[in-house]
Amino acid sequence: MKLRYIFITPFLFFGCGGLPPEDGFIDVDSLHTISNFPIGAALRFLPFRNDPALQRLQKHHFDSYTAGNDMKMYSIMPEEGVYDFSLIDAILAYTQENDQRLFGHNLIWHSSTPNWVKKKAQKDPEWLSDFMKRYIYTYVGRYRGAVHGWDVVNEGLRTKGGGYREDSIWYEVLGSRYIEQAFHYAHEADPEAVLFYNDFNTERDLEKFNFMIDMVEDFIKRGVPISGIGFQMHIRMDIPNEVIASTLQRAADTGLQIHLSEVDIIFNHHDDTRGGGVQKLKTLTPKMEQAQAQKYYELALMYQNLIPADQQYGITLWGFNDRDTWIRPFFGIQDWPTIYDERLQPKPALYGFLKGLR
Ligand code: G3I
Repeated sequence: MKLRYIFITPFLFFGCGGLPPEDGFIDVDSLHTISNFPIGAALRFLPFRNDPALQRLQKHHFDSYTAGNDMKMYSIMPEEGVYDFSLIDAILAYTQENDQRLFGHNLIWHSSTPNWVKKKAQKDPEWLSDFMKRYIYTYVGRYRGAVHGWDVVNEGLRTKGGGYREDSIWYEVLGSRYIEQAFHYAHEADPEAVLFYNDFNTERDLEKFNFMIDMVEDFIKRGVPISGIGFQMHIRMDIPNEVIASTLQRAADTGLQIHLSEVDIIFNHHDDTRGGGVQKLKTLTPKMEQAQAQKYYELALMYQNLIPADQQYGITLWGFNDRDTWIRPFFGIQDWPTIYDERLQPKPALYGFLKGLR
């Protein structure tokens, strides 16, 4: 494996200091303007569209938009036979008005499959296969040329180690072939869309990573229309850079697009399950803030140095402020994983990220 060395030097990242101006907006360099590749954030549109402060920051920093939940199957088809695209149409209008790329998260994910689909699939396996095809054709077809890329299958592999995720209705009923079928359908519905396999912990769990790469390389060999690998990159401060660098490098060697699709950096630990957080650190100290800034810096640098420019699909943050982060409600802990604080003021992490992108 080729290994290009990266040199990383620690330095201090200063926050804004003092009180925020009256309108709360601190003028800092724009992430996407500084970056050579798109920079995105995941958002929930309903609160977002009524939050001018958040919108101002979003427009300033990001040129790519991922819907945190609004584009998932449970949002679009909460009941049988009824597609609700109204929110996505509104999101698309917003991104077009603001010259942003809309990224589709996601088409097939065990965790966003509504219960009515699961129930029906258990009784009638053939129905599921047909439903998947119709769903992807209808959805991707409707946004052909408008949604730039898709997480076609999300988290199709086991949480830990190698192997397909067995606790998924899609795998249970259709076997592992559903993954490649989904890619074929998405490609048929929009031949120009950039199609990703997206998963978590693949930057650190080498068994899981190797399984994913074998699957992806097999797809490439057999002409399954995959165009990219999404690393969710929900990392912790103690995940070694050397491990992240080696997996990024190896993924880049496939020649596919590489998307850091859901970045955040947490301090505390968890076991990957809802409510499974372990509150080791209770408050955020200036020292921790500096260390986090350094980690954001290093991550941006690794992406720049290890992923060839024509494979850099971009870096997307999974929310960009500690007020709205999914980490707190999901794991049931206090943490500070993002680049803006609860009052929507910049953290040293923002400056670290900016420096890495520069
Ligand atoms: O909107 C309801 C609210 O009305 C209700 O009071 C509240 C009580 O539980 O629930 C709210 O809905 C929650 C929704 O997030 C909005 O906050 C759902 O329960 C909750 O299940 C849902 O969780 C989302 C999760 O995916 C499941 O779809 C998280 O916000 C979202 O951040 C998370 O995102 C995933 C990615 O899609 C895939 N990778 C991992 C990532 C983090 O888990």
